Amino acid sequence: MDLFEYQARDLFESYGVPVLAGLIADTPEEAKAAAEKLGGTVVVKAQVKVGGRGKAGGVKVVHNPDDAFTAAEAILGLDIKGHFVKRVMIAAGARIAQEFYFSVLLDRSNRSFLSMTSVEGGMEIEELAVERPEALARIEVNALEGITLEKATEIAIAASFPEELVGKVAPVIVKLYDVFTGEDATLVEVNPLVLTEDGEVVALDGKVTLDENAGFRHENHEALEDKAGADPLEAKAKALDLNYVKLDGEVGIIGNGAGLVMSTLDVVSYAGERHGGVKPANFLDIGGGASAEVMAAGLDVILNDPQVKSVFVNVFGGITACDAVANGIVGALATLGDTATKPLVVRLDGNNVVEGRQILADRNHPLVTVVDTMDEAADKAAELAHAAA
Ligand SMILES: Nc1ncnc2c1ncn2[C@@H]1O[C@H](COP(=O)(O)OP(=O)(O)OP(=O)(O)O)[C@@H](O)[C@H]1O
Ligand SMILES: [Mg+2]
Repeated sequence: MDLFEYQARDLFESYGVPVLAGLIADTPEEAKAAAEKLGGTVVVKAQVKVGGRGKAGGVKVVHNPDDAFTAAEAILGLDIKGHFVKRVMIAAGARIAQEFYFSVLLDRSNRSFLSMTSVEGGMEIEELAVERPEALARIEVNALEGITLEKATEIAIAASFPEELVGKVAPVIVKLYDVFTGEDATLVEVNPLVLTEDGEVVALDGKVTLDENAGFRHENHEALEDKAGADPLEAKAKALDLNYVKLDGEVGIIGNGAGLVMSTLDVVSYAGERHGGVKPANFLDIGGGASAEVMAAGLDVILNDPQVKSVFVNVFGGITACDAVANGIVGALATLGDTATKPLVVRLDGNNVVEGRQILADRNHPLVTVVDTMDEAADKAAELAHAAA
């Protein structure tokens, strides 16, 4: 789960990372009131979960409350790379002497943590990494040792901070690492980390990604979820405890087991090439116990996606045998009744497959086509999706 900048700011503050005052506003009036409260120069910042807000006109420095009103009016409602701005943060203005970059993240390919630091901020980090890779210090962080003050000093020196700054930056790096581990984050990024004209090191921006798998350890995390901004089908699936990811295609996919679902996505993509380029519409793993309720919940989510034209149910009976899954499908269709209108291609294999296919044959539902192999089923589902598109 990615956080908004203002949420990252609040977390930083609670860990003692130096930040500036910031107030959120959903209307120009609130923005004006916030600017009055903070006084002096403030920065009106779009709160969207995407980078490059500044370049898109989503960050404006203003010197009085009336200008904060005008700036908020311009920023609220902006479309920044497909993200609508519904909220701004009014941040106290910093007098910046120098901008730096720091991040710490889960480095999956090296099964470790990685810190990236640069004394040259102000530039997009992706650009810096390509154009001047030597200016970005990449230092591995051992998860068991973490970032002690000693390690943070090593990082700051590797990033070529001048001697007089190393002692100021290192403690901030330690605190940012505290946020990273304390909140079970997979990313904490500060761009820019600045040195103010008063000689303070302050985090002026914050990007935090929390590991949802660790959510159960953090009572505070649920409140950070952007329920209104979530895809409604993803939110519904989550409420039903389903493993669902919305994709852009036309063939709805239901399978049991992540591996089977992944390979189903592949075969449907291949089959789609023969049928007008249709693609998978989602990832949905209903897990081992494919009961009627779970099947109904899964079908309900997928059939409610207007982009879906056909559904491919691909189940390998294991502990939950095929007859139970077939009963699940029949039960689900009965539950959904007239709301189920899209063709279903079902492929069952594995434990009790004969009984399972027999149950579907006996029910003989007009929407259901039973196909024996995965490739043929994918082809049929793609064909039906293309015909309905
Ligand atoms: N509170 C502040 N006071 C003064 N200047 C600021 C403040 N916040 C941001 N800025 C200036 O605006 C620039 C852009 O701000 P910020 O990093 O928050 O947005 P961004 O980088 O455009 O967005 P993103 O990080 O999402 O790509 C900063 O590099 C900094 O120069
Ligand atoms: Mg930034």
